Amino acid sequence: MSGSSLSFVLVLLLSCLSESSAIIRKFHDVACRAHHIQSLMQFKNEFDSSSCNQTDYFNGVRCDNMTGEVTALQLPRGCLRGTMQPNSSLFRLLHLRYLNLSNNNFGSSTIPSELGNLNRLETLILSSNGFIDLSHNDLTGGFSLAQNLTKLNLLDLSYNHLSSTIMNPKSSIFTLHDLHYLNLCYNNFVSSTIPPEFGNLNRLEALSLFSTGLIGHVPSSFSNLSLLTTLLLGHNDLTSIFLPAQNLTKIPSQSHKQLEGQILEPISKLITLTTLDLSFLNLGYPIDLRVFSSFKSLAILALSGNSISPTSLSSDSGIPLSMEALLLSQCNISEFPNILKPLKNLRSLDISSNRIKGKIPEWFWSHPRLISANFFNNSLNGFQGLPEVLVNSSLRFLDLSLNCFEGAPPNLPPFIVSFTARGNRFTGNIPLSTCNHNSLTLDLASNNFTGAVPPCLSNLTAVNLRKNNLEGSLPDMFHDGSPLESFDVGYNQLTGKLPKSLINCSSLRLLNVEHNGIKDAFPFWLKALPNLQVLTLRSNKFYGPIATHDDRGAFPELRIFEISDNNFSGSLPPNYFVNWKASSLQMNEDGSIYMDHKEESIKNTYYIYADLVDLQYKGLSLEQVKVLTFYSAIDLSGNRFEGQIPESVGLLKTLIALNFSNNAFTGHIPSSLANVEALESLDLSRNQLSGTIPNELKTLSFLACINVSHNQLQGEIPQGTQITGQPASSFEGNARLCGLPLEGSCTGPRVASIQYVKEDKKEGEMVSWEAVTIGYALGLLFGVAIYQVIASYKPEWLVKIIGPYYCKSC
Ligand SMILES: *[C@@H]1O[C@H](CO)[C@@H](O)[C@H](O)[C@H]1NC(C)=O
Ligand SMILES: *[C@@H]1O[C@H](CO)[C@@H](O)[C@H](O)[C@H]1NC(C)=O
Ligand SMILES: *[C@@H]1O[C@H](CO)[C@@H](O)[C@H](O)[C@H]1NC(C)=O
Ligand SMILES: *[C@@H]1O[C@H](CO)[C@@H](O)[C@H](O)[C@H]1NC(C)=O
Ligand SMILES: *[C@@H]1O[C@H](CO)[C@@H](O)[C@H](O)[C@H]1NC(C)=O
Ligand SMILES: *[C@@H]1O[C@H](CO)[C@@H](O)[C@H](O)[C@H]1NC(C)=O
Ligand SMILES: *[C@@H]1O[C@H](CO)[C@@H](O)[C@H](O)[C@H]1NC(C)=O
Ligand SMILES: *[C@@H]1O[C@H](CO)[C@@H](O)[C@H](O)[C@H]1NC(C)=O
Ligand SMILES: *[C@@H]1O[C@H](CO)[C@@H](O)[C@H](O)[C@H]1NC(C)=O
Ligand SMILES: *[C@@H]1O[C@H](CO)[C@@H](O)[C@H](O)[C@H]1NC(C)=O
Ligand SMILES: *[C@@H]1O[C@H](CO)[C@@H](O)[C@H](O)[C@H]1NC(C)=O
Ligand SMILES: *[C@@H]1O[C@H](CO)[C@@H](O)[C@H](O)[C@H]1NC(C)=O
Repeated sequence: MSGSSLSFVLVLLLSCLSESSAIIRKFHDVACRAHHIQSLMQFKNEFDSSSCNQTDYFNGVRCDNMTGEVTALQLPRGCLRGTMQPNSSLFRLLHLRYLNLSNNNFGSSTIPSELGNLNRLETLILSSNGFIDLSHNDLTGGFSLAQNLTKLNLLDLSYNHLSSTIMNPKSSIFTLHDLHYLNLCYNNFVSSTIPPEFGNLNRLEALSLFSTGLIGHVPSSFSNLSLLTTLLLGHNDLTSIFLPAQNLTKIPSQSHKQLEGQILEPISKLITLTTLDLSFLNLGYPIDLRVFSSFKSLAILALSGNSISPTSLSSDSGIPLSMEALLLSQCNISEFPNILKPLKNLRSLDISSNRIKGKIPEWFWSHPRLISANFFNNSLNGFQGLPEVLVNSSLRFLDLSLNCFEGAPPNLPPFIVSFTARGNRFTGNIPLSTCNHNSLTLDLASNNFTGAVPPCLSNLTAVNLRKNNLEGSLPDMFHDGSPLESFDVGYNQLTGKLPKSLINCSSLRLLNVEHNGIKDAFPFWLKALPNLQVLTLRSNKFYGPIATHDDRGAFPELRIFEISDNNFSGSLPPNYFVNWKASSLQMNEDGSIYMDHKEESIKNTYYIYADLVDLQYKGLSLEQVKVLTFYSAIDLSGNRFEGQIPESVGLLKTLIALNFSNNAFTGHIPSSLANVEALESLDLSRNQLSGTIPNELKTLSFLACINVSHNQLQGEIPQGTQITGQPASSFEGNARLCGLPLEGSCTGPRVASIQYVKEDKKEGEMVSWEAVTIGYALGLLFGVAIYQVIASYKPEWLVKIIGPYYCKSC
């Protein structure tokens, strides 16, 4: 395995099987025949392709340099949406050898057996598409796909919703005898066992069944797969993988000791394996690491989420010396494993979320090829040896977060690119030596560092110093060309002004200075930063207006905007939110909500620094959530804003939370808010809003929390389930409001409410209504799709909460 790519491969491994990418490049770029171009256009037109970029679409087409026939097709991500029909023009491109339709949305289509027409196919990639099944023929022994796809050697159906029917022994998958590579990870074969028919695919070199809901054991026919080098079986319920099922039932559960050291059947016969993933198998008995000693070529072994026998960890030999990466997260390990000592090829160790106490031994750093070490979430408290113990190491990624380290942090190794140590008890000043590492990601949040923020962070890529005891003002030392992308110094005691030189950090995505004592006017100048997505000024002493005479084009990428609890004042023009990124949710973007599954799981590994924010909104209080591309939040609460709530807020279609409470807003609640379909939390309490609550708001189906208390609202509360299910306190303090959940019914005010709506329109806010009409049009076009997409994705981001920021009790 080539060194530089190892961490990348690992990243992929954690989520799924790695693919040889950009196969398309090997095809020649020559003129294609006119009738093929026509078929390609027709194919596009069979779908909603409104976000397809014509240029990109045809960039992925390759034709034979002699005949002009289309031989390769790779569509850009997020281009097509709709059902793939059996009569699709795609099936007329009979000369296709490479077809990659990944990351589109053929939600709820079956995979048409007409793909079998494309009998020259060698590579077929249909990942991340929402397919639900193979066609009936392909499931029942009709073999329609397989009959013709005799040349297919790479099949990728990962990240779909394929059901257990595909694991049917008659499924045509098992007749694709020439497959070298089969990726089925992330599907729903719930409660299927692994059929012995996999043994037919004896040319397989790589197989991924990762996270597919399989149960039972690995059939003995797997010993037929003698060419296999990569096997990913993790995140399934393969309870008897280390023993044939019949043997397991014979052994009483209390004599677990006897199970240690049992052989791994039939996988133990696959001695050519270089990559093996057996993580999270729900085994119920400990694995003895020494069972892997016969795999002489094994380089990557993932056993996370299984318990490992302590005796095998403390022995000083047993794992093959070829081992380069070992993943032992959540293995209930309590001592630093001695078995790592002889592994001179070790590049990557993940031993996070165990119970390891004490110091990291000095010998660990002498592994000559070490690249990454993840000690996240243990009870480690120091380093054996001198403070310089790390300086000769080749380490590039080090995660010490959520441990019990004390005193000064270690001197960092020369090639380090990521040092994460949040949630420890490090003290003293932030070491100036960290600045010697260009492009470093430095996360020292939630420690007890004191003193000033060092004036040399400009060359770092990400800086997180949140929740320490830093004081003084932020150094005005950010130089032109700074690579800084993320800068969080929230929850310290910083004073002074926001440094103007931040304007030099044109890559900046996140700026968070919340809960400090910074006293400054609103930083209008930050609008010049083309990539700023998150701006959090919450709980400081900022003052003055936040709007100028023309705010169109402001903050082009901003999605999370939190400036609560300051002294901001003034009013916001109706078009304040026009041109905000959150308003331009487009097909390809909402498409990527669905389609970026794979990328998200890759980013979820610790190698890539994630921007994190607190989402502190009623009904949705989440600490340190990842900033993802498809939601936005705005908090202006606790200031002195006045005037009307800008109607253009209804354009922010990805908004999930909005808090305008505790200000002096007047006028009506904009009915354009009904356009913000993803809205979950809406707080307008403690203002001077008047008129009725717009009846349209009852259509907001995600609204979990609404609070309009303590205003001067009147009339009937819109009677939708999301609204009437709220506590009465959400509406109290509005003397003339009536209807559920408030007690007492409405008599008469219904008429009044209609009059109010009419009055609204007479006042005539042309600019805003124009904007809102555009918003509604977009809503009509994409509404249903977005609804489904967000509904299906929602649980994903809700669980993406990175561990707590407090120090644990050691
Ligand atoms: C299409 O993509 C190409 C490059 O990928 C880009 O140059 C072009 O501006 C895009 N066109 C549109 C309309 O977005
Ligand atoms: C056509 O493509 C083949 C490979 O597919 C290549 O060997 C050959 O040189 C190409 N011919 C021309 C004229 O580009
Ligand atoms: C398939 O296409 C996607 C673009 O949609 C690309 O990112 C990916 O690398 C391609 N996969 C292969 C194996 O060529
Ligand atoms: C495919 O068949 C459907 C009816 O089943 C028809 O509406 C559609 O036009 C056909 N598409 C093509 C490309 O022939
Ligand atoms: C196999 O391909 C031939 C043409 O090459 C086609 O006539 C036949 O319908 C295909 N079979 C299936 C099951 O798709
Ligand atoms: C193993 O592969 C051979 C072909 O090489 C095949 O005949 C045999 O049925 C396979 N065995 C099993 C158990 O699948
Ligand atoms: C499993 O049981 C069979 C007999 O039922 C026995 O021959 C075999 O040795 C056992 N294997 C292990 C690993 O205990
Ligand atoms: C973890 O290991 C300890 C012994 O070291 C054992 O008592 C405990 O049950 C194990 N916990 C789990 C979840 O396996
Ligand atoms: C690092 O290497 C240098 C030169 O090989 C050596 O003198 C020094 O003692 C080493 N430092 C540590 C902490 O191992
Ligand atoms: C942080 O350090 C200060 C003194 O430097 C000390 O008073 C305080 O208790 C420490 N806080 C924690 C949480 O250890
Ligand atoms: C920051 O990077 C620039 C350009 O790479 C370099 O000239 C400068 O010395 C670096 N500053 C520090 C403090 O390392
Ligand atoms: C830390 O590890 C324990 C298991 O040792 C696990 O239960 C817990 O969820 C982990 N915490 C985090 C924040 O990952």
